Parts: sequence; structure tokens; C-alpha cells
Amino acid sequence: MEHHHKKGEWNSSFGFLMAAVGSAVGLGNLWAFPYKMGKNGGFAFLLIYLILVATVGIVICLTELSLGRKTGKGVVAAYESISKKYSFVGWFAWISPMLIMGFYCMLGGYCLKYAVANLGDLFGASWGVNGADSSEYFSSFFTDQVQTSIFTLIIVALTVVIVMGGVAKGIERFSTIAMPALFVMMVIIIIRSVTMDGASEGLSFVFKPNFEVFRGTGWISVLASAGGQMFFSLSLGMGITVTYGSYMKKTESLQRNAFLIPIADTIVAVMAACAIMPAVFASGLNPGQGPSLLFVTLQTVFQAMGSIGPFFGFLLYFLVFIAAITSSIALLEAASAVIMDKQIEKGKQHNRKMVCLLIGLFVAAEGVFVSLDGLGANGFPQILGQGCWLDTFDLISEGVLMPLGALITALIFGWFKTGKEFTDDEIALDQGGFRIRRYYHFCLRWIVPVILLLVLLGQISTFFGLDWF
Ligand code: PHE
Repeated sequence: MEHHHKKGEWNSSFGFLMAAVGSAVGLGNLWAFPYKMGKNGGFAFLLIYLILVATVGIVICLTELSLGRKTGKGVVAAYESISKKYSFVGWFAWISPMLIMGFYCMLGGYCLKYAVANLGDLFGASWGVNGADSSEYFSSFFTDQVQTSIFTLIIVALTVVIVMGGVAKGIERFSTIAMPALFVMMVIIIIRSVTMDGASEGLSFVFKPNFEVFRGTGWISVLASAGGQMFFSLSLGMGITVTYGSYMKKTESLQRNAFLIPIADTIVAVMAACAIMPAVFASGLNPGQGPSLLFVTLQTVFQAMGSIGPFFGFLLYFLVFIAAITSSIALLEAASAVIMDKQIEKGKQHNRKMVCLLIGLFVAAEGVFVSLDGLGANGFPQILGQGCWLDTFDLISEGVLMPLGALITALIFGWFKTGKEFTDDEIALDQGGFRIRRYYHFCLRWIVPVILLLVLLGQISTFFGLDWF
């Protein structure tokens, strides 16, 4: 054995799967997918989404996992092992988590705040929502610089503590408990939601096939929206899957996991739609996406449920909190692994705790900064035409660096001589060999780059309100 797994190794297949699914399942599944699916053709959107998962999601997932396991390195060193000249792709994938972590922890903090507030209501405590108008409650919360900063810092601290614990003892152990718990909570909420009077309208919003949306050039926008959603939801193009792959045992099947992770992520997204939309429609509210769906619309739903409302409220916000934290630990691990590799390269003993702590401090500063900005409501100067600093960080990462990095990755692995068959031998270690080899290479060459280009253009168009599609 060479110097593989210096930084850690997963204990069990199940533990790895929970950690990987945990990194993928996040706010994207919960607050974006249900609405996008409903708006973009319901079942028709789901079909497109599944095709994209099969031809793009699974393919990039396999590329990233195998790159990680073959090199045993974090994302920068992993790309450098293909060729020194690709080191910039690795750095793209390092900058993104560094930028995303700050606001992701802030949003995780919002979830924690709402879980606590619903708990307060359950006990009739003064720190509950206490029947306040949910829209006013939300705006007074997100503009409250002290409260949002504190909740953000709690999430940053939790993330740092878990990642400091190491791959198996920290990340895997936490995910092995948290992800099944998330699943159970989700099932309970679905049962409540679909049995509400008028729930069927919500189900038909989500599932009713509407092929009209494909008319004319409509299909391009559906494709861009489904592609962007899939890409973000699977946490691709940002080093996470490479890093998590680097801790896999050689006996683990890469192909099987590259299939299971996207499928599980998609199942959770569809489950989220069944948990959220029926309740929203049954309460006579309009769906939407993003923070207002989660923190205004759903809070209104829980308040309308009567005395049991705070219980379901707590359950839902706690669930989203778990989804957020398993993603933020993945972000921190991916960013930290790069720095630990640098220490190892210099022949030093890597210092996980110190690296996590230092990056944690940086993230804390970032998180407090976006908290002070208060989603753009606190009068901070803004740049790049965005309404708040969260969007600015998101634009640079999710809007540009992630799709661009993944596009270049697809070209490296699909077309360029140095990278074309770089991980084939690694994937061939799977039992039964590299069974999907031809399929994989076909998709990587002809489908993935086209879709990623579309995602990139779609993102730029959305961030700058250009309405290209
Ligand atoms: N995949 C996560 C989601 O669906 C988001 C995420 C993206 C998390 C990138 C970490 C990194 O919400």
C-alpha cells in the first residue's frame, strides 16, 4: 500500500454511503426541488431529471469518486496527479466550498433557530414564535444581526467539531445516525402532509405531467433548470465527491456507489416534494422556493395546524438542520483535505485539528459577514449586480466556478489525452470489472459537456436576470 488513506478511511460501506448521501442531501433537495418540479412540468420534469441523473450525475459522480480513490488525495493534489497543468481545476473546486460554507452555515443557523422556536411554542415558552405573523417574524429574524450571527456560529462550531473528529470517528459516525433519523422524520411529515384536507392539490402540483412546458424553446429552459438543480443537489464540481472517494477502501465498488448516491439523493428530493407541497396547498397557500418557502410559507402551515403544529414544525426544521449540517461537514472536509495534503507534501505530519480550526475561523468570519448583511436588508454596499452577499458568494461558486470546473473536468476525462483513461484502471477494480465502460465514456464525451455548458449559461442568465432561456 502506498500513502493512501493517510488522512482517514471509511469504516463501513453503509457509513460511507450515509456520509456521501448526507453531503448531497441539503437545502437544494428541500427548498428548491419541490418547487422546480411543480413549476417545470411535474412528472415530465422528473423524467428529464432522471435522464440527466443517469447520463450526467452518475457519470461525473463516478469520475470524481474514482479520481479520489485512485490518487488518495484531496481535490487539488488529485487534479495535479493527472497533470500539473490541471491544478487550477482543483483550486476552483477548493474556492467554491470556501465561499459556500459561510452562507450555508448561516442558513443552517436559520433552521436551528426555527427548530428552537417551534420547540418553544410546543412548551408555550416566551422564546417561541407565539403566533406572530410568519412573514414579519422572518424579516425581524434575518435582519437581527446578533441573533443570526450567533446561530451561524453555532453551526460553524458544530461542523468544526465533527470534522475534527476525523473521517470515520467524526463524519461517518455522525452521518450514520443523522441520515436514518432524517429519513424517519421525513416519513412522519409526509404522512401528516398527505393526509391533510386538500392535500391532493399539492400532489397534483408536483406530479401532474405537463408536457406543455417543452413547447417551442421551453425544453431548453427545462433542461437548464433540471441540469442546474441536479448538479447542485449532487454537490458535484466542488471537491466533495473526490475527497470522500479518497477515503474509500479498494474493495468498495465505485460503480455501485456512483449509482446509489444520486438515486438516494433523488428519492429524498421527491420525498421532500411529498412532504412540503401537499401541506402548503392544503393550507391554501402559494408555493415558492428558497428561504421564503421554508421560513415563511411552511411556518404559516405549522401555525395553522393547531396545537400539534409546533411538533411538526420542530421535526421539519430539525430535519433541514441535519441536512444542512451533513452538507457543511462535507464542505469543510473537502476544503481541509487540500491543506492537509499540502502539509503531507512538505513531509510534515498533517494536523487535522489545526487545519479545521483555521478554516473554521475563516468560515466564522464569512458567516458573520453574511449574517450582518441580513440577506441584503441591512444596507450593505453590494457588488456584481447581486442583491445580497449570499448571492454574490453563490454566484462565484455555484454560478461560475462549479459548472466551469466540472465542464473542464468532463473535457479532461472525456477528450484530453492525459486524462481520458486516467481512472479506468481504478474503476476496473470493481467486482466484475468496469462494466459500464462504454456507456460511461460515451456520456462523458457527448452528453456531459453539452449539459454542463447549458448549466453554466443557465446559471449566468439566472444570476444576472438575463432571461436567456
Ligand atoms: N447538495 C446540497 C443541496 O442539495 C448543496 C450543497 C452543494 C452542499 C454543494 C454542499 C456543497 O442542498
